[in-house]
Order: sequence, then C-alpha cells, then structure tokens
Amino acid sequence: MILSDSCWMKDYCGKYNSSIDCECKDKNIFCSKLFKLDKLYQDSLLSDIQRVHKTLYIDSDGSDREAFIRLKEIEKNIEQWVNSGNNLYLYSHICGNGKTCWAIRLLQAYLESIWYKSDLKCRVLFINVPRFLIALKNSISQQDDYINHIKENIQTVDLVVWDDIAIKTATTYEMENLLSIIDYRLNSGKSNIYTSNLFGKELSESLGDRLYSRIINLSEVIEFIGQDKRGLIK
Ligand SMILES: Nc1ncnc2c1ncn2[C@@H]1O[C@H](COP(=O)(O)OP(=O)(O)O)[C@@H](O)[C@H]1O
Ligand SMILES: [Mg+2]
Repeated sequence: MILSDSCWMKDYCGKYNSSIDCECKDKNIFCSKLFKLDKLYQDSLLSDIQRVHKTLYIDSDGSDREAFIRLKEIEKNIEQWVNSGNNLYLYSHICGNGKTCWAIRLLQAYLESIWYKSDLKCRVLFINVPRFLIALKNSISQQDDYINHIKENIQTVDLVVWDDIAIKTATTYEMENLLSIIDYRLNSGKSNIYTSNLFGKELSESLGDRLYSRIINLSEVIEFIGQDKRGLIK
C-alpha cells in the first residue's frame, strides 16, 4: 500500500496545499490521488527525478518568451489538446534550453488533469528515442521488459513524448520501425510531442522523407533559441 507519508507530490499538490482534509497531513493514511498518480507515472516510464516539477524561466533578454506563452496555453488546456490528437515538435540547435523539460511538463499536466477519472491503465509514455532504439535492437536476442511495456501500450496511450527523435546514427531499419509506430498513432488521432536538435534538411536526412513529412506536416513547430541552462542555479 502507498502511504502518504512518503508522498513525492507534497510541494505542488493542490490538495495538500489547499485542503484541510488532505490525507498527507495525517501521516500513514492511504491517499487515492497519490496511489493513482504513482501508477500512472510508473507506467509513463518517467524516472523518479523526472516526476519532480521544475520551475522553468526565460533568459533575461526575453528569448523564448513567445514559445513559453504558447506552451503555457497548451498546458492550461492540455486535456482538450490531447483529446483533439494534437502534435508538437519542440526543437533547438542549442542543447539544454528546456525542450525535454517542457515535454515532461506537458505530460505531467496531462496526468494531473485526468488522474481522478482514469482507470489504472497506461495513459502516457515518455520514450527517449536513442534508448528505445538500442533496447529494440537488443530485444531481438532476449526479452526486454522496457520494450515489452512500450509495445503493449504504444498504440493505445493518449500521449507519447518522443524525446530526441532525430538521431543521426539510426539505421533505415530502425527508422522504418519508428515510422510504422508513429504512422499508426497519427492515423488513429493520437497525440505526440517530439523533441529534437534538428530541423529542415538536417532533420529530413536523419528521419527519412516519409517520417519527416508525417511528423512536421502534422505538428505545431516551436523553436527554442534561449541559452543552455543545464547546471545553472536560479
Ligand atoms: N527554461 C529553463 N529554466 C530552468 N532550467 C532549465 C530551463 N531549460 C533547461 N533548464 C535546465 O537544463 C537542464 C536540461 O534541460 P533539457 O530540457 O533537458 O534540455 P534540452 O533542451 O536539451 O532537452 C534541465 O534539467 C534544467 O535543469
Ligand atoms: Mg532533451
């Protein structure tokens, strides 16, 4: 049983912060919100560290202000955005300026808006594409729980984050594999968020023309131009 004594959501849980009835204020009591979100997060494949909410800020010169405004708007209406099968392509030629953080934040916002009416099945997946492709290759010779979990749920989950989609070293076989999965999701009106360091010609060379056009033509594209903020403390 998951007890609220070990709650990892306390700092930003609206229930904890606003309600006098919150189970977390009375230690060692079962909390259904914690129980459900814990299961949804476990199934999402996000690590414990990635579950924690991060405060994201823009550079002092205002770079990415427009991007942040648009992303906050999507975040606010995330449930409707996902239900409508929307897709987002977040890219930048600069590393560490918040693409993955924003993709995770939208995924968190979605889980936090549906947990109370969701059953305990997998609803979202966070897939780091380089890790996925390596595991896929290894799974040819031996069973792999990570790959099995993805294969079981990839067609039905509401939202998939494809983190670092454009890797330059992927083989045609790997790209065909990705294409068939993503194509299936797009044809069934399922939502996807991609992050990448590439765009334009570089991206089409990396993904191949077919996958490139499926992704780009069906996504809202947002470019980040802010500085690398990895390791900065604010
Ligand atoms: N806008 C931001 N505000 C605060 N910290 C940020 C921001 N963008 C990135 N970071 C920091 O940099 C790290 C890397 O960000 P990440 O989103 O993984 O970069 P990338 O754009 O390469 O995907 C984050 O873990 C976070 O600590
Ligand atoms: Mg990233």
